[in-house]
Amino acid sequence: MKILAIETSCDETAVALVDASGTVLKPNFNIIAQALHSQIKLHEQYGGVFPMMAKREHQKNLIPLFLRVLKNQKTKNKDADSKIKNKIQKILMKETFLFEQFEKHIINISKPKIDAIVVTEGPGLEPTLWVGINFARALGELWKIPVYGVNHMEGHFLTPLLNKEYISYPALALLVSGGHTELVYSKKPLNYQIIGKTLDDAVGEAFDKVARMLNLPYPGGPQISALAEKARSLKLEASSWSLPRPMIKSPDFNFSFSGIKTAVLYLIRDLGEITEEIKLKIAREFENAVVETLLYKTQKAIEKYELKTLIVGGGVSANKFLQKNIKKLAKTHKIKLLLPKKKQSTDNALMIAVAGYLGIKSKKLKAPKNAQGNLSL
Ligand code: KG4
Ligand code: ZN
Repeated sequence: MKILAIETSCDETAVALVDASGTVLKPNFNIIAQALHSQIKLHEQYGGVFPMMAKREHQKNLIPLFLRVLKNQKTKNKDADSKIKNKIQKILMKETFLFEQFEKHIINISKPKIDAIVVTEGPGLEPTLWVGINFARALGELWKIPVYGVNHMEGHFLTPLLNKEYISYPALALLVSGGHTELVYSKKPLNYQIIGKTLDDAVGEAFDKVARMLNLPYPGGPQISALAEKARSLKLEASSWSLPRPMIKSPDFNFSFSGIKTAVLYLIRDLGEITEEIKLKIAREFENAVVETLLYKTQKAIEKYELKTLIVGGGVSANKFLQKNIKKLAKTHKIKLLLPKKKQSTDNALMIAVAGYLGIKSKKLKAPKNAQGNLSL
């Protein structure tokens, strides 16, 4: 089954065409083509993502990326039916720029061999989600292809399947990104229970905010991580101060990261001059505090649920220190650990294709009606 997948939930515009086969437990994905544009460079100068600015970028980049993905597919030119054209104009009413490009580059192309279109319907930034959803609906209308809405977090959960790394159930996923921090328990395929989540900031968001306090560029995670590594190699560590490990004593699986962030703010104020050495120490202590907290709650969950697989997903899963410690944890508890490849840990359309295929196979998906910023698993 040929699946076209579209992702626009935050600051990555991504399109992929995938040939999917196999069962829900052992699917097979053959990547035909994919294209991705990251808006990081743009948002870097503002220190974060502004939704309306991100929306404009998605509108500008989505169709060029889509055309790149479609390039080697057999298509012919044909004249667009005026009724269909009207319908598409209605769908893309709020995406004026997208409609202009759609009319110019897509409306006269005959249907390529695509069996289904899947698109992220949430969670994420609603203005940017709408770009992907409306584009998917317009394509579906033009070519009479079914369109399905996919949960972005399910994509992160199922990413290892892209590389034939199969999930044995029950499984637990630690999903850590700029927008989310969740522990998701899955007793059987496509059945999810969020057993813990952050009560305030997401872990990636905390990395980004602390990086900004230290005058480091966005996204802050890789920056802090590099400084923390350097501090470890130089054996530099905080001696007269430390940062809190929030919620570590609470009996649930929830997290909180805004306290550590505020603690760093006060620390910087109290320390006065922030030398390079102090920066290194703060980065190391911050990373220690965050990783310890994540590991502690994950370990508690491993002890409570009889797990066969532990999955780590989302942008923060690229963190080397987290990876090193989570590997130890999985080894101690003798459970299979699935870590995505670095490129697949951040937002992409391949993971949406995977979640889409499994959802279609199990007849779980519906056409996307709305952008759902707070969609939960
Ligand atoms: O999954 P993702 O690409 O986008 C969201 O859905 O948010 O995650 C981006 C987040 C950013 O906050 C970034 O700082 C963080 O992942 N990140 C890291 C690392 N690489 C990316 N955080 C810590 N260590 C890293 N090596
Ligand atoms: Zn994500």
